[in-house]
Amino acid sequence: MKKINKLLIGTHNKGKFREISDLLPKKLKKISPQDLKIESPEETGKSFEENSELKANFFCKRSNIVTLSDDSGLEVDCLDGNPGIYSSRWAEKFGGFENAMQEIIKMVKNKNKNSKAQFICSLTIQWPEGEKITETGVIKGNITEKKGNNGFGYDPIFIPDGYHKTFGEMNYKEKLLIDHRFIAYKKLEKKIKNYF
Ligand code: IMP
Repeated sequence: MKKINKLLIGTHNKGKFREISDLLPKKLKKISPQDLKIESPEETGKSFEENSELKANFFCKRSNIVTLSDDSGLEVDCLDGNPGIYSSRWAEKFGGFENAMQEIIKMVKNKNKNSKAQFICSLTIQWPEGEKITETGVIKGNITEKKGNNGFGYDPIFIPDGYHKTFGEMNYKEKLLIDHRFIAYKKLEKKIKNYF
């Protein structure tokens, strides 16, 4: 088994890059696509798994370095699972995350149903030789009024089940150790820990 001593974290999202880096062993050299001037691929997949695999394959092929990629997003039950895989595209469509969060709050209120939602994350590790492993993590919760300024993306409007504050009100460590990315990483870690 060839040990991994450097890993490309295949994302241009700074919030994700920081979280994924902090879940990985400290001794591992973490490389970003920016370091190698690699742009992002178009996300043409129909699911988090497909997009995560598409990104891992794209960055791995271009860098020839073992790559860990993520695709993640927020699914709101009463919005038929939207924005889902379109989470970052909704932010573009509405002119930023602030507006997208207000739109989601408005839509959920108008539906007058429940405010159940979940964050989902698929993580894929791919080797240059082509082997890959994908795992998915889910954290359930509810949409609420915007609270807190920590984190990134939709963090301020999501309260995970069992808590009374949003991801945006949690400190960095608190969110890092419970979120969808953490759950996916723990599943993956079981399969790859001997490579580190
Ligand atoms: P993508 O995986 O690059 O398509 O982007 C997923 C989008 O989902 C991000 O830009 C965020 O808007 C949102 N998202 C994913 N994970 C989180 C999270 O942990 N907190 C807040 N928003 C997230």
